[in-house]
Amino acid sequence: MTGILVVDDDVACARTLQLHLQSKGHEVDIRHDAIAGIAAAELLQPEIVILDIRMEGRSGLEALPDIKAIKPSPHVIMITAFNDMHTTIQAMQRGAEDYIHKPIDADELDAAVERLLGGERSDNLVPVGEISVDRLQMVGRSRAMKEVFKTIGLVARNNATVLITGESGTGKELVAHAIHNASDNAGGPFVVVNCAAVVETLLESDMFGHEKGAFTGAVGRQVGKFELAENGTIFLDEIGEMSPSMQAKLLRAVQYKEFTPLGSRDIHKTNARIIAATNLDLEQSVKQKDFREDLFFRLQVVSLHLPPLRERMDDLEDLVQALLSRINTEMNGGVTHLEQSVLDCFNDYHWPGNIRELENVLMKSVALSTSNVLTLEQLSPELKNQCVGQVSAKQEQLELGSLAEIERSHLVKVLQATGWHRGEACEILGVSRPRLRRMIRDYKLLPPQGTEPDSETLEQD
Ligand SMILES: Nc1ncnc2c1ncn2[C@@H]1O[C@H](COP(=O)(O)OP(=O)(O)OP(=O)(O)O)[C@@H](O)[C@H]1O
Ligand SMILES: [Mg+2]
Repeated sequence: MTGILVVDDDVACARTLQLHLQSKGHEVDIRHDAIAGIAAAELLQPEIVILDIRMEGRSGLEALPDIKAIKPSPHVIMITAFNDMHTTIQAMQRGAEDYIHKPIDADELDAAVERLLGGERSDNLVPVGEISVDRLQMVGRSRAMKEVFKTIGLVARNNATVLITGESGTGKELVAHAIHNASDNAGGPFVVVNCAAVVETLLESDMFGHEKGAFTGAVGRQVGKFELAENGTIFLDEIGEMSPSMQAKLLRAVQYKEFTPLGSRDIHKTNARIIAATNLDLEQSVKQKDFREDLFFRLQVVSLHLPPLRERMDDLEDLVQALLSRINTEMNGGVTHLEQSVLDCFNDYHWPGNIRELENVLMKSVALSTSNVLTLEQLSPELKNQCVGQVSAKQEQLELGSLAEIERSHLVKVLQATGWHRGEACEILGVSRPRLRRMIRDYKLLPPQGTEPDSETLEQD
């Protein structure tokens, strides 16, 4: 049994909600003002508080922070007869999990309650592991990733130059970190150079440093990254974007482990391990004469290719689990479960942006989620559209809904449009009053606050 507390100054409405929720097997208490509501929430520790916004005295919106501050913090569903953007935003900002308009649609309310309790569909829910994974820890047990881990272990034993290739977002930087951390020089710095920098002089000075006055704007001496990476690792990211003349300068550093800062005659030696990465096909670039062949061979003493996510879908669920638990920690989110259909959708998707894209999708979902369950509904329409099988099945379900489903949704629409004026609704629907009344009862629609009960038809029914 679940504890639910209804706080509404409309006694009839609170009572109707209580009866309805009790019929669903919940334990329900009611209070009729905010002060009594807060006190009851502290005393009874309900799992859910259903809170009316406009009440005599203190409003539900004002009471919301106090209710959310109670430990353990209850879920809050706000209810209101007024449709205004500002209050909705404020309520969600203050921690409400859901917001339902009066007249309350019993199914909508039931769905909200079930969703917050993560109940009913529990057999279709996948729990999220609680072990938070470090940002630098790599997840994967597919064959391909095991090979990657093996290579990382092997190169960590020496100081060889490594070229990491793979599509964008496959984890190239993470692998570079992993090599560094497993190496003897793990105690030294890990320094990143973005080789796609547009201004060549700046890239050169970034890598090799410069003397004062070496070029316009060089007001003082600057230490380059090769020097900073002494006893550590220098990571040359997006190496495929480097201009030919820079490639020539880099060749010397890679080949002889020496370089000269801009504006200087001194030769500096470096002992930094060099790791380069690119999402381009460097072999192809070499054939097209966009990349120096000699530099290419110097860089790929060891080459390590990261397969795209779509080729190692065995890792998907582990990745989702690990990323979600990390995002929960970092973003203060509370997603404890996800619907199996979310994983099915992810499995059908081809992930052009790889793990980075997966991470973004999950971050968005956590940022916008109001319950502890990540649902298919919360995913962006674009992503859902990509999950071909899922979506067409769902669409078919909608289009081929039962007569009852279609009747019910049409009835709700008409009642809302007429403000629950039974006479008008009967006229539009072309049904008698007793029939309308039966339909309202059968479909469990609750009349809004302040609406007169349909007394004349009560007797006839
Ligand atoms: N195996 C993995 N386990 C856990 N997280 C991963 C894994 N691979 C990548 N990630 C995460 O995915 C994101 C992208 O990884 P990373 O930046 O290393 O990719 P990249 O290949 O360098 O991408 P780009 O080519 O776009 O620079 C990071 O947030 C990283 O933590
Ligand atoms: Mg990268």
